[in-house]
Amino acid sequence: MEFLTPDKTHDESRQGEALVLEPVEKNNGRKLYIESYGCAMNFSDSEIVASILAEKGFETTSDYNNADVVFINTCSIRENAETRVRNRLKEFAGAKGKNPGMVVGVLGCMAERLKSKFLEEEKLVDVVVGPDAYRDLPNLIDRVDEGQRAVNVLLSREETYADISPVRLNSNGINAFVSIMRGCDNMCSFCVVPFTRGRERSRDPHSIVAECQDLFDKGYREVTLLGQNVDSYKWNASQLADGSEQSAEDLGEAADVVNFANLLEMVALIHPDLRVRFSTSHPKDITDEVLYTIAKYDNICNYIHLPVQSGNSRILELMNRTYDRAWYMERVDAIRRIIPDCAISTDIITGFCTETEEEHNDTLTMMDYVQYDYAYMFMYSERPGTLAAKRYADDIPEPIKAMRLKQVVAKQQQYSYVRLQQHLGRVERVLIEGYSKKSDKDYCGRNDKNAMVVFPVQEGYKPGQYANVLVERCTTATLIGKII
Ligand code: SAH
Ligand code: SF4
Ligand code: F3S
Repeated sequence: MEFLTPDKTHDESRQGEALVLEPVEKNNGRKLYIESYGCAMNFSDSEIVASILAEKGFETTSDYNNADVVFINTCSIRENAETRVRNRLKEFAGAKGKNPGMVVGVLGCMAERLKSKFLEEEKLVDVVVGPDAYRDLPNLIDRVDEGQRAVNVLLSREETYADISPVRLNSNGINAFVSIMRGCDNMCSFCVVPFTRGRERSRDPHSIVAECQDLFDKGYREVTLLGQNVDSYKWNASQLADGSEQSAEDLGEAADVVNFANLLEMVALIHPDLRVRFSTSHPKDITDEVLYTIAKYDNICNYIHLPVQSGNSRILELMNRTYDRAWYMERVDAIRRIIPDCAISTDIITGFCTETEEEHNDTLTMMDYVQYDYAYMFMYSERPGTLAAKRYADDIPEPIKAMRLKQVVAKQQQYSYVRLQQHLGRVERVLIEGYSKKSDKDYCGRNDKNAMVVFPVQEGYKPGQYANVLVERCTTATLIGKII
């Protein structure tokens, strides 16, 4: 098992969901099918793509067989993510056989990584579009209609799609992702993201706050601010695209530089009933200022995703994570000190190049130190073009990577359960998200620390409202209780 998946934000197992929106009025008669793989950022991008094409009159469909345009928004993070996409493309071939006019497009990180090579490798594909080129989609589709194959994989230093209001696909009307930055300037040696997503850039805070306010006005009660490294969010007034200056007054309390702590505060101030989550934090960048801001506002959730990757300083250095074991522990201590009741989750890679048994043990003891609430755990997968692929041999045999992963997963299961049990007997404020998977006699929702809570439906309570739930029992992944 590769994943423990308590929340959707980092849940890369949410693979291949078809995303559908309500039909728009100015229909051009064409139907779009879009399927997403990878991280929350990709799912959020698909909503931008749907919005760009909705403007051109496309409506979405959940059945690719009757779609005019079939898009697959792809992930390159590990080899198996790419394999999954290639297999899926084979399935689309049948549909295209029956409907030769169908446009098949590959979007996202794999498109960016493979560029026009994709057209050579996959005869079925008509369009290849990288993450910064989605505004060009209507034009690229036109080119395909004219009988060409089209590629746009230009990366941008500015594009944040700030002005595009994403259509919410498959939404429950309660939780939404809001992208606050794009790209990544860290060069973790194992990671393909800097190559597929380009340079880091932050989105105008005005447009972020406006989007969150709009979501709140429409009844949404939780936003998750997304970026590969949210702690390095930084907006300068001088960044305005039209060259005009933005005054400190315009930005409310913030000065003409807005950092992540300032942004969190601006979003938290929209309304106390709007929950604010964020992902991902980088251990080298998460500041005490951010921690104090989380502690100050009840509606900023006490939950931090702080990927450690490895508990060993030598491996961290090879990974180019730019912190060591002691630094990471100090950041965890700071979280515990400033936000005493804060859930922490992490990402872990097993079997990175040259990792010894002792070094792997350091990861296990790090897990004992932090006692993570959740973890996403992976075997190292060499990605072409990354620093690690160039510099180090992928020399840990697969069975050893797998055995180490198994140990890490077993330990995490133990701590996830320990953490859940700590909720027993407590009253938790839960945002009701809908009926539980198993029964429409039960509601489900999350507490502030992102744990799933299931409890009997009670009159007077609806999805989108908060309920105070007394936690009475738990399974290995879920808290169970009743509204009080
Ligand atoms: N920006 C985030 C993570 C993005 S990728 C961060 O810096 O934390 C999500 C996770 O995938 C990473 O945290 C890492 O644990 C895992 N990952 C990335 N590249 C990988 C690779 N080549 N092999 C295995 N796991 C990888
Ligand atoms: Fe990849 Fe590192 Fe950037 Fe995360 S911070 S996206 S792991 S390069
Ligand atoms: Fe996300 Fe995968 Fe790209 S994790 S940034 S979709 S490589």
